[in-house]
Amino acid sequence: MCVVLLEVHDVDKTFTNRFGSVTAAFGVSFEVSAGECFGLIGESGSGKSTIASIVSGTLAPDSGTVCLDGQALDTRSARSRKAHQRKLQMVFQDPRASFNPRMKVMDALREPLIHKLGRAKDEADAAIEQVMEQVNLPTGMLRRGVHTISVGQAQRVAIARALLAEPRLIVCDEITSALDVTVQASILELLAHLRREQELSMLFVSHDMAVVAQLSDRVAVMESGRIIEQGPVDQVIGNPVQEYTRLLIDLA
Ligand SMILES: Nc1ncnc2c1ncn2[C@@H]1O[C@H](COP(=O)(O)OP(=O)(O)OP(=O)(O)O)[C@@H](O)[C@H]1O
Ligand SMILES: [Mg+2]
Repeated sequence: MCVVLLEVHDVDKTFTNRFGSVTAAFGVSFEVSAGECFGLIGESGSGKSTIASIVSGTLAPDSGTVCLDGQALDTRSARSRKAHQRKLQMVFQDPRASFNPRMKVMDALREPLIHKLGRAKDEADAAIEQVMEQVNLPTGMLRRGVHTISVGQAQRVAIARALLAEPRLIVCDEITSALDVTVQASILELLAHLRREQELSMLFVSHDMAVVAQLSDRVAVMESGRIIEQGPVDQVIGNPVQEYTRLLIDLA
């Protein structure tokens, strides 16, 4: 059965500054089913992060709707934003930027469990030990400062932290872009493994078609704020309708 988990409908967003205005999203609509990985691909500036922020409730669209798990997001309501954000987790390009530099890995992982989910310390520590195993990091690393580990290890910690919050949806924005090729491959393999092990639903944003294709079930191609084609990944890559999509495939 296909259950729609995320529904983005007819979203528009224009940024205006003293240099003029940019339409970062125009009529953007797509759906993500429970357990599905939906890829969003496009060149730099095509509007991918704008959509990721709107889906995450950190940026208000000018018009259009975002529904997660049957609940419409009202960005003007703090209560609605909070309820929405409790159901999703974001992972970003630079994992270390999202950690307090003075924190140990242990503290970075305890934070959402104790402060957001209200878990007791013992329970939190057991969950942390388990998640470290899931992301293939030694528990000895828990005592290290988050800024003393490598970017690839920090990205695994960021993924671990996202998993601990038990989200309905994980939004990944260019999470492998700061990593070298072998580390990138190992992070993608980890996510693919986690997807097989547990029902993970993901919105996976990248400018790299090869990266998106490796993980996604379906993919949408963005150009200048619009989705110009979307469909199952094999269909979009094997038989692209748009010339722009063909260019992205050739670049990968
Ligand atoms: N806060 C902002 N103020 C003004 N313009 C913005 C803002 N955020 C994004 N934009 C503009 O909106 C357009 C889409 O930006 P966005 O960051 O969504 O693209 P992207 O596809 O994520 O690009 P990249 O691959 O480089 O991350 C760009 O032209 C960008 O300059
Ligand atoms: Mg971006």
